[in-house]
Amino acid sequence: MKVLLLGSGGREHTLAWKIAQSKLCEELYIAPGNAGTAECGVNLNFSDSDVEKIKECIIEKQIDILVVGPEQALVNGIYDCIKNDKKTEKTIVIGPSQAGAVLEGSKDFAKAFMSKYNIPTADYQSFDKENIEGALEYIQTLKAPYVLKADGLAAGKGVLICHTIEEAKHEINAMLLSEKFGKASRKIVIEEFLKGIELSVFVLTDGEHYLVLPSAKDYKRIGENDTGLNTGGMGAISPPPFADKIFMSKVEQKIIIPTIEGLKKEKITYKGFIFIGLMKVDDEPYVIEYNVRMGDPETEVVVPRINNDLLDLFLHVENQTLDQVTLAINSQVAATVMLVSKGYPEAYEKGKIISNVQNVQNSYVFHAGTKLNDKGELVSNGGRVLAVTSMGASIQEALGLSYQNADLIDFENKHYRRDIGKDIL
Ligand code: AMP
Ligand code: GLY
Repeated sequence: MKVLLLGSGGREHTLAWKIAQSKLCEELYIAPGNAGTAECGVNLNFSDSDVEKIKECIIEKQIDILVVGPEQALVNGIYDCIKNDKKTEKTIVIGPSQAGAVLEGSKDFAKAFMSKYNIPTADYQSFDKENIEGALEYIQTLKAPYVLKADGLAAGKGVLICHTIEEAKHEINAMLLSEKFGKASRKIVIEEFLKGIELSVFVLTDGEHYLVLPSAKDYKRIGENDTGLNTGGMGAISPPPFADKIFMSKVEQKIIIPTIEGLKKEKITYKGFIFIGLMKVDDEPYVIEYNVRMGDPETEVVVPRINNDLLDLFLHVENQTLDQVTLAINSQVAATVMLVSKGYPEAYEKGKIISNVQNVQNSYVFHAGTKLNDKGELVSNGGRVLAVTSMGASIQEALGLSYQNADLIDFENKHYRRDIGKDIL
């Protein structure tokens, strides 16, 4: 099979690494990719949301399967664009239709979907500029901290947790009246704060059946002990030890099954990954958010634990035969530590020469923001630069290897959190 994978982060390097191992893989292209994906296939120089270039590539290279990494292209409707064009309609697309991608593209839609199908989530109400008075009244009925969410995609920055009512009111005004997050905050969701421990659950669905992939715990804040700004993720562990069998069976019964059934009842075409962000509150799961893609850096610990051939799984998705598949999961723990640039998650440095990657032993190095410069040297090219993933019999063992190699790899002002996994040990 000829594969085109869209995206350029650590998630995509991990997917490319796994796809390249597939017996079914004849050719692998990644657009735009990074220096790591270039070792698994051929990088193509166009953006992952450039629909015209994607279509041209599908036709020219006779692509059999398009795997969509990030959300933007899905929310823009890449699935429908490919399927509604006679020249590209036969290409398999791994990712939901635009109607399905709204689960991530609109928090208001996702919350309404959850209420309709009785999926446990925080109590909420949605507001726009016209009923800002309602928002200011509703916030009075809640207790601190207050959770405000921009309805649309806001590059992971659209959720605000406010500790005082004054701050919450100020932010409601900023979001609705001054479009603090642009168009994304023309509508907002205000919801009850859930106190618990978070985890990321991943499902692969063919629209009819589903497989529950390994779950993970992500470390979102830039600083140790979960302090400082939110990032895309500074590290991850799979499986999270607190997601035991009993808890995961509640997740399946109360969340995954109603989600898949809801999509079917709504006649939403969905062939791809569902990433369910959950809060475990007193042993009960609540949905924080849906994403219509894999997580990053969760992919860096989830995918290495899957022993099945990924393209074979994708063929089952296309043929709606996922019920015939048995997942083979590696019982080892996987841990990843993200090496990031100085300044991240705000303005960060780029172009720093990265050395010693070739000396890494017993870990996988998945590239996130990297490229080769004009001299062919490996340099940093993003906020998150490299993810160092290791497998072990225990969290300690896996983390030990990742930290050993995180120390070894060098670039100027390299930063990483030294407390990944500490809270669950
Ligand atoms: P999201 O962008 O929806 O993942 O939200 C970002 C982060 O905000 C989540 O990872 C949670 O840590 C936090 N969060 C979102 N919603 C809630 C909630 N209802 N209660 C507590 N924390 C929340
Ligand atoms: N690590 C969280 C995300 O991918 O959204």
